[in-house]
Amino acid sequence: MLELIVYGVLLFLLVQMFRLWMADGDLSLMWYERFGQSPAQLAGKVVWITGASSGIGEALAVEMSKVGTKLVLSARRKEELERVKQTCVETGNVAEKDVLVVPLDSVAHDTHAGCVKRVLAHFGKVDVLINTSWRSQRSSFLETTLINERKAQFTVPPQVSLTKAVLPHMMEQGEGQIVVTGSTSGMIAEAGLSAYCGSKFALRGFYGALRAELQSYDIDVLLVCPGPVETNVVQNAMVGDPDKFFNQDPKLDPSHANDVSAPRCARLFMVAMANRLEEVWISRNPWLTYAYLVSYLPFIGNR
Ligand SMILES: NC(=O)c1ccc[n+]([C@@H]2O[C@H](COP(=O)([O-])OP(=O)(O)OC[C@H]3O[C@@H](n4cnc5c(N)ncnc54)[C@H](OP(=O)(O)O)[C@@H]3O)[C@@H](O)[C@H]2O)c1
Repeated sequence: MLELIVYGVLLFLLVQMFRLWMADGDLSLMWYERFGQSPAQLAGKVVWITGASSGIGEALAVEMSKVGTKLVLSARRKEELERVKQTCVETGNVAEKDVLVVPLDSVAHDTHAGCVKRVLAHFGKVDVLINTSWRSQRSSFLETTLINERKAQFTVPPQVSLTKAVLPHMMEQGEGQIVVTGSTSGMIAEAGLSAYCGSKFALRGFYGALRAELQSYDIDVLLVCPGPVETNVVQNAMVGDPDKFFNQDPKLDPSHANDVSAPRCARLFMVAMANRLEEVWISRNPWLTYAYLVSYLPFIGNR
């Protein structure tokens, strides 16, 4: 009998290890996807997405439009935002007036208050702000420009300014959700990504502190850390000069050999949002296992 129980426990552990190896998100996210609130909860909310002209932000817009979320789409390229809006209206459950395009540059801080005014004039509220705009990096530290006033890689993370502009409205409203796209590069330091890792590690500290400050308000702060996702992130990565692009085919990048698709990543974002989680990781292996190792067994993970 005892033997049977031991074999049963071993089998259970093996199955769980196999499931973890095949997973594309951390254990809590996989749990909530199966047993938690459905992303359909986001219907009717006003969600503002930065970085909505491409990649993860675009997929978020398209997936949320399917459940009837009202959308504000922001990034620098207006024509790309209009294209994404068109897709949302054609394939989603939203009308033209439910999707507002507000072009902005995340590092043009002085323009953000005006953008918030425009959004409030149109929708009267912002329920969720998703800060997902930004670029990766492919350059050694010595090649990388330290300070470039408007495109500074080592100063305030670009996600912070719009958060500051939207927050007073959420506090007045008495509820809201701030979501920020971090990265597994904000957990695992990698060569050639010193500025990117620095900025993504900083996000965890910054939004953790903000979460603590907002404890007495009904405002959630969610940090989403994707690993490799199939987008234009590698082509659009900065090199030493942030005005230039890396422009390499992501298939040549070994870290992108087992990407999560952008729509799947967006869907898992929505699970985390609907369940008001604080931090989630979205990645396939080996990055998912690395994330667990650096978090729980750093003396192994950091090697
Ligand atoms: N894909 C991955 O493997 C991966 C993994 C971990 C984390 N992430 C994070 O996910 C986020 C989205 O990246 P992605 O993979 O979707 O890459 P992407 O396809 O290159 O999209 C980047 C988005 O950010 C916008 N953006 C860049 N600089 C901006 C600025 N100064 N102001 C406003 N918008 C700006 C771009 O729009 P415009 O050019 O029109 O401004 C675009 O919409 C980033 O924060 C990235 O660090 C990605």
